[in-house]
Amino acid sequence: MTTKRQSIHGQWSSRWAFIMAATGSAVGLGNIWRFPYLTGEYGGGAFVLMYIGCVLLVGIPIMMSEVLLGRRGRQSPINTMASLAEEEGLTSGWRYLGWMGVVAGFLILSFYSVVAGWTLEYIFQAGSGNFLTATDEEIGEIFDSLLRNPGQLMAMHTLFMALTVIVVAMGVQSGLERAVKFLMPALFILLLLMVGYAMSTDGFEEGVYYLFYPDWSKLSGEGFLAALGQAFFSLSLGMGAIMVYGSYLPDDASIANTSVTIALADTLVAIMAGLAIFPLVFAYGLETGSGPGLIFVTLPIAFGQMPYGQIFGTGFFILLLFAAWTSSISLLEPAVAWLVENRGISRARSAAIAGLIAWVLGIGSVLSFNLWQDYRLFDKTYFDIMEYVTSNIMLPLGGLLIAVFTAWLMSRKAVIEELGLGEGLIFRTWLFVVRYVAPIGVVIIFLHAIGFL
Ligand code: PFF
Repeated sequence: MTTKRQSIHGQWSSRWAFIMAATGSAVGLGNIWRFPYLTGEYGGGAFVLMYIGCVLLVGIPIMMSEVLLGRRGRQSPINTMASLAEEEGLTSGWRYLGWMGVVAGFLILSFYSVVAGWTLEYIFQAGSGNFLTATDEEIGEIFDSLLRNPGQLMAMHTLFMALTVIVVAMGVQSGLERAVKFLMPALFILLLLMVGYAMSTDGFEEGVYYLFYPDWSKLSGEGFLAALGQAFFSLSLGMGAIMVYGSYLPDDASIANTSVTIALADTLVAIMAGLAIFPLVFAYGLETGSGPGLIFVTLPIAFGQMPYGQIFGTGFFILLLFAAWTSSISLLEPAVAWLVENRGISRARSAAIAGLIAWVLGIGSVLSFNLWQDYRLFDKTYFDIMEYVTSNIMLPLGGLLIAVFTAWLMSRKAVIEELGLGEGLIFRTWLFVVRYVAPIGVVIIFLHAIGFL
């Protein structure tokens, strides 16, 4: 196939716009909410180093593969996989890789929207000055009482899902490209200020030590898998989000440079979130392993104590909301692109239909914190199961198949043409990593987690 495909959905205005959008997808609740709480649950430094290893050896090479496939296929992940497979003389059954991504996208968005709803609630809480007067215990109680209130959780979940649908309906370029450009740097600056505040507390040294000193004895097979899953989750890999964004990437943009930039920015934000949060955990004698509520109890304490905490707190949760928003749209985009391509439904209707599916699935997550909290499978609630199955199983499995397809099945000529790196050392290193290191790494970690190794 020599003639280049065109996407019917349009294209990013520049390479920079793609970097912004993909970074917007990558940087989200995964960095600021999930990374710190997993680090706390899985014992600190060893988890962090394992995570960074996964980003470098699995995440970046697979991100390059996903962008490459997307740009070559220039359609929704389902149709991209089908066309590329056909082009290589393979079964069009590869489209099911795209389907798995669409399903994973719905499942992730369903619980993501609930957590983004907590963020929304906290904008109001911070804005009304509630953290200024509350004691540490009262701040914990604000979070617990939110979780006990299904009506409030539903309202926020609904509001967030509506925000997501609206942006996807408008088309990714118009609203989003513009908003992301200044919101992401603002989030970064505010996070820097938070790290600055954390440095002024007497828990800073202990926090840094906890975050970077690897106590390998604390890292279980389960912890390895969680680090791998988090690398996929945080970089938005394995489900077609980056693939569909790649399908709107101009032909002349370098896939390697953009992928490395996005991954570094994402990792930096996660580390900064860790540096902002763990010193507070130690300074105020909180629990590192307190689970998904971690940032919603630690950060408000800081906002209650720091000068101008009401303004910073409100600003912080607003920016976190935007970070979540720029991620959630990428969770919906693969399904929407497919509905537009195959069902001929308008973008706006497609977004509404897809959003509704994710919203319904999210009701289970809302209830798992209150009415359904005793319904458990392997001791996990509905919410826990959604989170676990998507990030620890579906995303790494998707990534594994993407690596196999790109590095083993696609013709070398097509890969070289699309990557534009020539055939030199960088290309060969990438190929080696995607052929051997990434897939074998994923398989070993899977086997380790189920107790086989
Ligand atoms: N990367 C996002 C975050 O870290 O919050 C979450 C996410 C977005 C995961 C898109 C997967 C995805 F496809």
